[in-house]
Amino acid sequence: MNLDQLQRAFEEIYHRPPQFIVRAPGRVNILGEHVDYNDGPVLPAAIDQAVYIAVALGEDGCARLHALDLNQQVALRLDDLAEKRDRDGNPLPGWALYPAGVAWALQQAGLYTSGLLAAYTSDIPIGAGLSSSAAVEVGFAFAWQTLGGWEISRLTLAQHCQTAENQFVGVSCGLMDQFASACGIEGHALYFDTRSLEWDAAPIPPEVALVIADSGVRRNLTHSGYNERRAACEQAVRELQQYLPHIRSLRDVKTTEFAAYSMFLSEIPRRRAEHVVKEIARVHSAVSALRRADKQALGALMYAGHNSLRNLYEVSTPELDTLVELTRSLPGCIGARLTGAGFGGCTLNLVEVDQAEAFIAGLQRGYMRTTGRQAKIYLCRASQGVSLL
Ligand code: GLA
Repeated sequence: MNLDQLQRAFEEIYHRPPQFIVRAPGRVNILGEHVDYNDGPVLPAAIDQAVYIAVALGEDGCARLHALDLNQQVALRLDDLAEKRDRDGNPLPGWALYPAGVAWALQQAGLYTSGLLAAYTSDIPIGAGLSSSAAVEVGFAFAWQTLGGWEISRLTLAQHCQTAENQFVGVSCGLMDQFASACGIEGHALYFDTRSLEWDAAPIPPEVALVIADSGVRRNLTHSGYNERRAACEQAVRELQQYLPHIRSLRDVKTTEFAAYSMFLSEIPRRRAEHVVKEIARVHSAVSALRRADKQALGALMYAGHNSLRNLYEVSTPELDTLVELTRSLPGCIGARLTGAGFGGCTLNLVEVDQAEAFIAGLQRGYMRTTGRQAKIYLCRASQGVSLL
């Protein structure tokens, strides 16, 4: 659906034009997977694919939400969100928990959420590890900010969205996805320290394309598997604290300390922690590789990151492994790995722009030959964060 169609759909539903359209992007993560809830650094980039929300002020203290791609709508009272029910008392459908949760989190922070009319569409594939839900959250937070006339930093906006997801939707995610959707910078990766909340942009060399390959496979395990991984990391911290009493999270464990004490850990927490401790070191190396435009080093770190997610963190799938393995014999590939939480979804490939076409054709052919499946492949650019169009 293009912007004209979005505008027309809004007018048909609400019999008036929208006041503005918000764009909030999805993200890829170049490196630093499953480290944001361990206080570590991450290296995401916002992408071209985004959620588009047409918005106008609502007069009656209600939010009217129309999810155009699902052809579903709901109206909810903004002064009575905690029950998670619509205006008629029915439980909110799953998709509406995201905007409703954002309004709830903004209110918790003392920020005014006016009545709103919204219709939205997205070209971020759902459940593919590209943060389609964080984009919805950030887009709606920005819509309420614009209508309310209050100003907070983009980082704070992202934090309210994380609160919505953690406390209202009930997913214990870290801050990376909301941060990337809020703070993205065109042509840049974002080096974000999830403990200090400091961040900095690192340019992606213009000759490097971001190629996303969707395996087409989704695992239902995502929420339970994610929460289990998180719990295993917390257990590893508790076990390591016997030897390293100063540590608060896996972020505080040096690779040398891990080597000295990992033998005392239980089996599963040991494997999960090994991934996290080494992944944090890889992010530090990756950001310096990016800064000196050392593509070979960056690519090697991505492949190492994928192996670790497969063997130690155990969140890959055979299809994602196939997509990564195929790239090793394809033209122009700098590095490849699964991106996002895993359990299905997408790989991110860094590819020389002038060979991207041949790379994509080769990956598509190889994936079909090996799995009998069609991979959807997107050639992306790092894009700016949430904005008004
Ligand atoms: C999901 C979560 C993020 C992060 C990644 C894994 O996308 O929302 O906070 O933990 O998984 O790196």
